[in-house]
Order: sequence, then C-alpha cells, then structure tokens
Amino acid sequence: MRVAFENGEPTVRDDTAHPVRKYSDSQVGGAIISEETPVFSHLPVMLSECIEGLAIRPDGIYVDGTAGGGGHSSAIAERIPRGRLISIDRDIEAINACGRRLLPYGDRVTLVHDNYRNVGSILSSLGIGKIDGALFDLGVSSHQIDTKERGFSYSRDGDAPLDMRMSREDKLTAYDVVNGYGKDELCRIISEYGEERFAARIAARIAEARETAPIRTTGELSELVRSAVPAASVEKGSHPAKRTFQAIRIEVNGELDGIEPALRDVCAVLAPGGRIAVITFHSLEDRIVKRVFADLARGCICPPDFPVCVCGRTPVIKQITKKPVTAGADELSVNPRAKSAKLRIVEKL
Ligand SMILES: C[S@@+](CC[C@H](N)C(=O)[O-])C[C@H]1O[C@@H](n2cnc3c(N)ncnc32)[C@H](O)[C@@H]1O
Repeated sequence: MRVAFENGEPTVRDDTAHPVRKYSDSQVGGAIISEETPVFSHLPVMLSECIEGLAIRPDGIYVDGTAGGGGHSSAIAERIPRGRLISIDRDIEAINACGRRLLPYGDRVTLVHDNYRNVGSILSSLGIGKIDGALFDLGVSSHQIDTKERGFSYSRDGDAPLDMRMSREDKLTAYDVVNGYGKDELCRIISEYGEERFAARIAARIAEARETAPIRTTGELSELVRSAVPAASVEKGSHPAKRTFQAIRIEVNGELDGIEPALRDVCAVLAPGGRIAVITFHSLEDRIVKRVFADLARGCICPPDFPVCVCGRTPVIKQITKKPVTAGADELSVNPRAKSAKLRIVEKL
C-alpha cells in the first residue's frame, strides 16, 4: 500500500491495482493523519551534516528512504519550496507520524508505505525518472524501540511479545526465529548479525529452554542470553542481550538485503551533481555502504599491464566524505543514540 499527498490531501495508493483513493477524513491505512496524530520523539541524527551534505536545490526532487518520524524529511521539505520529496517507510506508524509532521508542506510531499528496496519501482510508478538526492538513515527508530509491545527492546519491561517487525504486514516475527530456527542457524545469525562471540552458547541455551516451553517474551529471551554470557565479558555500560537482539531484529526484517539494491537504484536515477547520504549504525551496514560506494566510484578495472582499457568502466560517483562523518560532542550529549552513527555522502558524476 502507498500513502500519498495529492492536491494537499492524504491518499492511499494500492500497489496491486494502482488506484489512488482519496480519504476526505484524512484516514490513512487505518490511522488518522490530522493535527491530533502523534508525532515521534525521535531526534534526527546528524541533521545539519545531512542537510549540508545533500546540497539541496530548492526545485529538486528528493527521496527519504527511511522517513521514520519525519525529522530529516521535514528539514528537506522545508528547503524545497518548488521541489518534491518522496518519503518512504515500511512501518505504517512511521508513515502516519511523518505524514502528520509533513502536513504543512502539502503536496510537496509524497508518503510511500513500502520497503526502500523497491525504490526503483516506487519512483517509476510515480512517473519520476530523475532525482536530485536521497537519504537513508538506516535501522530502527527510537519510537520503534520505545514502543514496548513491538518487542524490539531488551531493556524495557520484559513481558513484551517477541515481535520486532518493522512492518506489521510481514509474516516472520522474532518469536518464529527464536522458537522455529534450528540451533545451528540461530548460532550463525547471532554470530554474523550480532557479531557475538558467545553465539554458540546463547543458541544452545535457547534450544535447551524451548524444549520445555516456547520462549514468548523479550524478558525471557533477555534472561536466557544473560545466563549464557559470562558476566565478566560483558562490555561496561552494555547489556548482555544487546547483540543477540540486534541479530534477531536484522534477521526478522531482512535489514541488510535491501541496502545494496536501493543504493544502486537511486544512483541510477540520480542527476549529475545529485547526492546520496547514508547513516549507518553498525559495522555490518557500514561495510555494505562502503563497498557499494567504492565500487560505483571505481573506474577502469583492467589489469595494470593492459596497454589500453578494455573494460570501458568509468566512475559513476565521487566520494564527498573520504572518511565517514560522526556526531559531534554537542549532539552526543543530547542524543547518545548517535554514538555509533556514521554518515557517508557521495555525488553523481
Ligand atoms: C532511524 S529511523 C529514521 C528516522 C528519521 N530519519 C527521522 O528523522 O525521524 C529508521 C526508519 O527506517 C525504517 N526502515 C528501516 N528499514 C527500512 C526499509 N527497508 N524500507 C523502508 N523503511 C525502512 C524504519 O521503519 C524506521 O522508521
């Protein structure tokens, strides 16, 4: 389903049939976008660095692939009086909150409830052939983590169901992963996606516990992980279940799968001089972004002893940030979540 503002009014696009239905009462996807729709308390990370890095044109077309509460989106929308912003999120709650926040910008903004992995087909279905910039602020929002019943948090009250889906329309939940995956597969996920050195012990503990009864809540999982990890090895200030929860969340949402196709697709439609900004929150995401950007920035790949180039490859982008930008002390003092954030910016040639 897509949600769009057309002629200043929220509308719903249905992907299957492509009709555009208007909701005169502003009802969108089961929730209401109005002055009363709650806005998220998420603080946008490295906001000024992103806005400056995108070098926004007032008449440009921009994509925010991870709209969330609309912090970055509203800063972009404000700067494009004659332009257009496509704000995408797979979470309908984010779309509603972002929609509420972007109401003042009317039909300058199109909200799309979808996975950013589909950005290529989203843009072509909106009739957009060229864009001037794109932003991806990867991962989960503070709102998702703080909404207890969504099951993302290892540290909040432990009776939340094991869910962790960013889109409630998706089938796979954390319960399915924790209770349904084989021990070896669980170990691989916790090791790879959580970069957790005690993955084997944690997977064994989970497998043992679920033989008695299914593991149902975030609190039960948290406690199992805590009991499997040697207390002395837990980093100071960190929670023993942090890495395992990250791993399961990545698996549930297929979080790493869409990054490369989305970056390549936006790059393909980016106008010369247009920019892409990506914020990552852990090394798995950052490695993908770094590799894709390095590949797109690379020219000839012929062996050095070839007298002339036969591959015909030329660079597609140039790197604006030679090293990733990180949050400054002022931002970190008010938003500790920005601590692990890395911002990379590239420009289309
Ligand atoms: C860090 S938050 C973005 C916050 C936003 N920049 C703001 O300022 O409020 C990440 C958002 O991206 C969304 N998201 C994550 N992966 C996604 C994907 N593959 N497709 C679409 N949205 C995604 C999440 O649902 C979440 O709302």
